[in-house]
Amino acid sequence: MQKTITRLYPLPGEQCPLEGLYLQHQLHTRGQADRPFVYSNFITSLDGRIAIRTSDHATHTVPSSIGNPRDWRLYQELAGQADLLITSGRFYRQSIMGEAQDILPVDNKPAFADISEWRHKQGLRSQPDIAIISGSLDIPLPALEGYLDRRILVITGAEADREKVKDLQHHGIEVIHAGNGKQVDGRLMIPELATRGYRSIYAIAGPAVFYTLLKARVVDRLYLTIAQQLLGGDVIDTLTSGPLLAPAQGMQLVQLYHDAHAPANAGQLLGCFEPAG
Ligand SMILES: NC(=O)c1ccc[n+]([C@@H]2O[C@H](COP(=O)([O-])OP(=O)(O)OC[C@H]3O[C@@H](n4cnc5c(N)ncnc54)[C@H](OP(=O)(O)O)[C@@H]3O)[C@@H](O)[C@H]2O)c1
Repeated sequence: MQKTITRLYPLPGEQCPLEGLYLQHQLHTRGQADRPFVYSNFITSLDGRIAIRTSDHATHTVPSSIGNPRDWRLYQELAGQADLLITSGRFYRQSIMGEAQDILPVDNKPAFADISEWRHKQGLRSQPDIAIISGSLDIPLPALEGYLDRRILVITGAEADREKVKDLQHHGIEVIHAGNGKQVDGRLMIPELATRGYRSIYAIAGPAVFYTLLKARVVDRLYLTIAQQLLGGDVIDTLTSGPLLAPAQGMQLVQLYHDAHAPANAGQLLGCFEPAG
């Protein structure tokens, strides 16, 4: 694997090692006791697609033309700094169908052993805990079996189905109510997570969860990889889904890198953004 990428911002530009690039951000030290640091990450095509429909999958998946091992390495580095991952009910439904992108990090493949070691040195547990946002509570329990070594929290609305809540609790899963109706409100959810001691929260779900966090104005940082591929397609997903944000969320550029080595024959831009103002 080519070892370097080019920093375009802040100036002056320079060549930097890819490995360790995001670990330097020390995201696990940025949260406060009453306000965890909340970050998210997406890979998108140049025309804004994060997932597409393909004939061999029942659910939408990240296009193989944009996903690549260099971006995946950085995704693992972001996961390496989290004490909690936010996922969605849909991830586990996809997972049971064999259609989820991967198991939840931190990956224990040899290529990522340094990230596990780094976590250990930083005093973080070997794996981040897992929060599942769901209104329907249609969460297939067998899909959670691989994660029972960690604390699993399910976050739902006040009017979630009581029988499903009891069933989850019966399986040792804590259910947190943070929102009216069946929907989760990010403004209520983050304080609930803070009181449970979480300081660095990595949202790895998709557009609905990201929208929930944006609407609550609790996103502290967005890592966005823009693979230089144009995909087209009629049914598309982009990084947020929900009514127009009013006002729009301005984001300022913190860092920008160019990676000429993936996807093959294209390249990618790696941006890091924070809310403006
Ligand atoms: N390219 C990328 O970087 C990237 C990153 C992430 C995901 N993706 C793709 O995006 C697609 C969607 O991913 P996803 O399903 O994990 O993400 P999502 O659209 O964020 O999550 C959808 C599910 O999350 C729950 N949910 C979201 N907001 C909620 C709220 N405020 N209150 C209650 N429940 C809420 C709902 O679960 P219930 O239905 O259980 O109520 C909903 O069905 C997938 O195809 C994935 O491959 C791409």
